[in-house]
Amino acid sequence: MSQRALISELSRHDGQEVTLAGWLYNSRVSSKVAFLVVRDGTELCQCVVGKEAVPAEVFERACRIAQESSLRVIGQVHADERAPGGYELHVSGVEIVHPASDYPITPKSHGHEFLFKHRHLWLRSRRPTAIMRIRHTVIDAIRRFFNDNGFMLIDTPIFAPSAGEGAQTLFEVDYFGEPMYLAQTGQLYLEAAALAYGKVYCFGPTFRAEKSKTRRHLTEFWMVEPEIAWARLEDLLAVAEDFVVAIVERVLREHRADLEFLGQDVITLERIKKPFYRLTYSEAAEILRGPKAKELLDNELATGQARIDELNRTIEAKEKELAGPGVKKHRQDQFAAEVIEHREELAELTEQVKNIPHHMELAANFEWGKDLGGSDETIISRLHDRPVFVTHYPRQCKAFYMKRDEQDPRVVRNFDLLAPDGYGEIIGGSQREEELEALLERMAEEKMPTEPYEWYLDLRRYGSVPHGGFGLGIERTVAWLCGLKHIRETIAFPRLMGKVYP
Ligand code: 4AD
Ligand code: MG
Repeated sequence: MSQRALISELSRHDGQEVTLAGWLYNSRVSSKVAFLVVRDGTELCQCVVGKEAVPAEVFERACRIAQESSLRVIGQVHADERAPGGYELHVSGVEIVHPASDYPITPKSHGHEFLFKHRHLWLRSRRPTAIMRIRHTVIDAIRRFFNDNGFMLIDTPIFAPSAGEGAQTLFEVDYFGEPMYLAQTGQLYLEAAALAYGKVYCFGPTFRAEKSKTRRHLTEFWMVEPEIAWARLEDLLAVAEDFVVAIVERVLREHRADLEFLGQDVITLERIKKPFYRLTYSEAAEILRGPKAKELLDNELATGQARIDELNRTIEAKEKELAGPGVKKHRQDQFAAEVIEHREELAELTEQVKNIPHHMELAANFEWGKDLGGSDETIISRLHDRPVFVTHYPRQCKAFYMKRDEQDPRVVRNFDLLAPDGYGEIIGGSQREEELEALLERMAEEKMPTEPYEWYLDLRRYGSVPHGGFGLGIERTVAWLCGLKHIRETIAFPRLMGKVYP
């Protein structure tokens, strides 16, 4: 048998005979030739089986292979500009390893409910493949950034005896008869590590019992958190800026084709350069109450409504044609698939448009002291074409560990980084309260017990220094970079309230 080659490496084998091992993605058959589109996990390759070029039984077999059967294909590599990937295989032999039949995901479209129920198979399709590849690169870029900039990786525990980010979203588990929680953050442990090693980071799964069903929340997500001794708020913003730029550059460098396949406008990502915008919370609040926010939402209401009307008209027309006489089978399938997609878009859009008046009211009456809500973030983020740092939030709406501002004691030295185009918060971070007395006072205000946090308080008893860090959510970042409507597509097996299969 000839040498096994990966489809992504076919350019190295131009003119040679190779064996591809993969699965049948799609095929087109005529009386003289069968085009088998084979995928092997790296790329797709068109394999051409000419009736004259192979024994009759090979041609017969090639014509009858069902979608997602696993197979080996032998043939000669030919450069061909028209072929996806630039190379195709002129086939001399086909071996079916495992014949599939009635693969549930066909090249026509399916609703997302169906696709997520078949996520274990859907992962093989092109859209999830493009997203998973980009996710992989994002994670690699993150590790590289920290490893190349003198940060030490610290793996923080997933079993956590107390809350790190507010008790409302804790998942409780039974730990030998004692209550224990799944980690919401590695931060508190990381602070201990930062005072030991200077610059550290952790990267792991985190858990939040989010009861809200939004397009930004998972119950299990991956977060990377750097923590830096001697750093103040301004230093953290500078690191976060370099960090996000490094991720975006790497994705642009390696994934243009994937981004374009996903319909993402590459130009909007090319705009992601330093400096990012900087707003204080108070400035953000002014914007929310001001005329620009109102104008934005008025426009969204109008364009949303127009699209709804258009979708309704299209669906009606297609259904009418479907019901009419003499519609060909393939046209019926195509229309039915398109109608599924239109209906899905319609349902999402209707829900969004329905909420706009409420979001307008929230923004117009935004009161100083409240945390920014999802819709408020969306507004700020839509009004900017580069990421926006929002800093200095009122202390009452933020976590107990955040450092109080010396100039204005009503606010803390924290920041959120909002991605542009309506994606909202992708990073949350702060300088930490390093003074024992101030921290104890804040914990008392929050009615937090001190006993479980004695070790954390020790960090303020022995060589305390200014320090801080932040956390970036991988899935929100990937959703933004890929231009996805919903976070659920950014992880192989998403966990949402009420959705845990497969
Ligand atoms: O803003 P958060 O809650 O910050 C922290 O956990 C800090 N302890 C981080 C730190 O300072 N070391 O979460 C950080 C990020 C958010 O900006 C968001 O990207 C992501 O984690 N995130 C979620 N992603 C998906 N689903 C959820 N339910 C998320 N909650 C937070
Ligand atoms: Mg946050």
